[in-house]
Amino acid sequence: MPKRRNFGSSAGRLALLHALAHIELNAIDLAWDITARFAGADLPRKFYDDWVGVAAEEAEHFALLADRLEMLGGCYGALPAHDGLWEAAAATATDLLARLAVVPLVLEARGLDVTPEMIEKLRRQDDSASVAALETIYREEVAHVAAGERWFRFECARRGLDPVETYRELVRRYHRGGLKPPFNRAARDKAGFAAAFYENV
Ligand SMILES: [Fe+2]
Ligand SMILES: [Fe+2]
Repeated sequence: MPKRRNFGSSAGRLALLHALAHIELNAIDLAWDITARFAGADLPRKFYDDWVGVAAEEAEHFALLADRLEMLGGCYGALPAHDGLWEAAAATATDLLARLAVVPLVLEARGLDVTPEMIEKLRRQDDSASVAALETIYREEVAHVAAGERWFRFECARRGLDPVETYRELVRRYHRGGLKPPFNRAARDKAGFAAAFYENV
């Protein structure tokens, strides 16, 4: 990768955009996976419609970031990427509640926590096109967390479980790294994801 050294300070930006593109690509797969994997779970049609909608938005997010990478002289696939999201998917493959707790309500909620800082970083580099892409992603991810919260509550109600207690237990079991404050309370509130779920887990 010697060419990348010529980008100087933009190497960090390419790495950031590449990491985000990788997350979005995994998010497409995760959204389709939840619709297909739990097809026999006797859920309302709206459950599947919601995640198909999420899959479409994740595909747009990936395309936004892949475009930015190419405009900056890079491309998706040029850098190595971690497999953490897919490992989370595999670990929660047999339980819808675990999947909802970990994917939308830990990982996507974490995205809401860290995105404003990334937007600021890109703004300082005067990269207004990347700022615009991340602002779109940030706005739409609120609805993904909201869908996660809604269906998590729905499934807890069906099983007669307390949603807050169940979430905290599933996070302890399936997300051993624990939750990382500080949380973006404003964005999480906007998604209807109450602090009682995630504070002091
Ligand atoms: Fe996304
Ligand atoms: Fe998402």
